Amino acid sequence: MDVFEAVASRYSCRAFLPKPVPEKIVRDIVERASRAPSAGNMQAWRVYALAGSRVEELKALLAPRMNELPKGEGGDYRIYPDPMGEPYRARSFKVGELLYESIGVPRADKPARYQQYARNFQLFGAPVGLFFAVERAHGVAQWADIGGLLQTVMLVARGHGLHTCPQQAWVSWHKTMRSFLNLPDNLMIYSGMALGYADDSAPINGWRAPRDPLDTFASFEGFEG
Ligand SMILES: Cc1cc2nc3c(=O)[nH]c(=O)nc-3n(C[C@H](O)[C@H](O)[C@H](O)COP(=O)(O)O)c2cc1C
Repeated sequence: MDVFEAVASRYSCRAFLPKPVPEKIVRDIVERASRAPSAGNMQAWRVYALAGSRVEELKALLAPRMNELPKGEGGDYRIYPDPMGEPYRARSFKVGELLYESIGVPRADKPARYQQYARNFQLFGAPVGLFFAVERAHGVAQWADIGGLLQTVMLVARGHGLHTCPQQAWVSWHKTMRSFLNLPDNLMIYSGMALGYADDSAPINGWRAPRDPLDTFASFEGFEG
């Protein structure tokens, strides 16, 4: 698979097959992804990879807590700007619409939407969960760098025929994750990520999030050919 194909075929996969991914492959993905650049080559990231009994333990820990604390434990950091403003709100609304439409859930059916949201904490059935932590004291530059690491993980995963879903939703369970991962105080979870083999027959994987046309977000000046 070339880089064009890897980029074009990546999407946020929200239904996985129960097929395990060998540790060797996960190690390969994370190791190759560490070629992602970082300002000053700081490599200010920490990755926790969970599979097998650890994933089962985590899922079992969270499942009963979904109804008890629907919004989780609050956030360790704010994911979305408040207010989100336009055109961002409309884009975000659109993916929500496409996602729920794909599984036949009407916007007004809040319990069914919540049930789908809660699937984040079952890793959408993926056999592997990756958790990416940043230094609490670091700033926006290092946060951008870790975003590059996530994207590189997602593209290298494609090279192995695997799919991913980045999951900031895990931030809402930051206290539980801190103790589950034994995360030191200086680190905080930036995002989780589900990793595994896509269930291509699942309707939730059958749509793609649109992107705005090139000339609405980029300009090109001074080119001669
Ligand atoms: C850092 C990050 C965190 C995300 N967190 C979640 C999440 O918690 N749950 C989810 O279903 N999708 C999550 N997404 C997926 C986005 O909704 C998705 O990337 C966007 O709608 C574009 O769709 P695509 O990835 O399929 O191209 C996240 C994406 C990023 C980059």
